[in-house]
Amino acid sequence: MKVLLTGAAGQLGQALIASKPAEVELIATSRAGGNRMIALDLADKDACYAAVMEKQPDWVINSGAYTAVDRAESEPELAYAVNAAAPEAFAQAQLQNGGRLLQLSTDFVFDGSKGSPYHPDHTASPLGVYGASKAAGETAAQSALNTAQLCILRTSWVYGPMGYNFVRTMLRLHHQRALDGQPLRVVADQVGCPTATTGLAKACWQVVEQGECGIHHWCDAGVASWYDFAVAIGELGVAAGLLAKAAETRPINTCDYPTAAIRPMYSLLDCSFTRSVLRLTPLHWRTALAGVIQQISGQGSLT
Ligand SMILES: NC(=O)c1ccc[n+]([C@@H]2O[C@H](COP(=O)([O-])OP(=O)(O)OC[C@H]3O[C@@H](n4cnc5c(N)ncnc54)[C@H](OP(=O)(O)O)[C@@H]3O)[C@@H](O)[C@H]2O)c1
Repeated sequence: MKVLLTGAAGQLGQALIASKPAEVELIATSRAGGNRMIALDLADKDACYAAVMEKQPDWVINSGAYTAVDRAESEPELAYAVNAAAPEAFAQAQLQNGGRLLQLSTDFVFDGSKGSPYHPDHTASPLGVYGASKAAGETAAQSALNTAQLCILRTSWVYGPMGYNFVRTMLRLHHQRALDGQPLRVVADQVGCPTATTGLAKACWQVVEQGECGIHHWCDAGVASWYDFAVAIGELGVAAGLLAKAAETRPINTCDYPTAAIRPMYSLLDCSFTRSVLRLTPLHWRTALAGVIQQISGQGSLT
């Protein structure tokens, strides 16, 4: 089976490469190329279409995305080009080829006002440019491609042992603030679920192997606020020997930490349908986090 992967240098892209099933012939693409990846700029929809027409993959896994949630507010054209026009081009090309598209998407397509976990068929109502551009990507792909050729997989609060993410940032901040004797203030009134790239990559490959289509939700198990997540990162960082001491962590409200983009206050996804059809049981987020922190510990440095 031939799979074209975008965003191969990103957090999920790296986990997908590391866990690739033996029978998959992987064509990995990234913005810059190199390191056994082909250069593909997701902001160039013609290049996206042409890459699929040339390589004729059975699946495109579109893991690449414009993921800078706050910066997207001032760069909407680029966010829409990457997050909406590229998936549309992949969908149009796969319609011609007869192949399938796995489009990664986000909990930020929802506004967080529901107060209970979002089911896959709940209507999108994004708050910011990033969420709106990802929702536009879902809609564009759905308009271009038959339902039997498209899987949309939404996830939340993604982190892994590499790349720019909350876990690595918090480990650095715990280290610095504990040294300086300063507290770490973290938002406690936004609730969701942290998701490690290892389990997410497994779910993606299961989608491909089963030929699963439709809209799916995959996250690790449990629920957390950013504050809960930060406290756990400190505790597990100490347990793994990465931190001598965790900083004192204080809960704050969203209004005390203004950001360019408004984020959903509650973005838990109901993953029960997907867990059942993929026959996968996610780890609780704290267990998954312990595994990732062990991996970071093996890298020997927080930078
Ligand atoms: N991160 C999260 O918390 C989160 C939450 C929910 C859903 N998701 C979704 O999950 C998927 C994987 O996310 P991730 O955490 O792995 O993101 P990531 O680490 O930010 O990786 C995204 C990749 O996309 C690439 N990219 C951005 N613009 C590009 C362009 N114009 N041309 C080519 N490549 C480009 C980036 O390359 P550069 O490094 O060169 O910029 C990066 O390697 C995405 O679809 C994202 O929307 C993520």
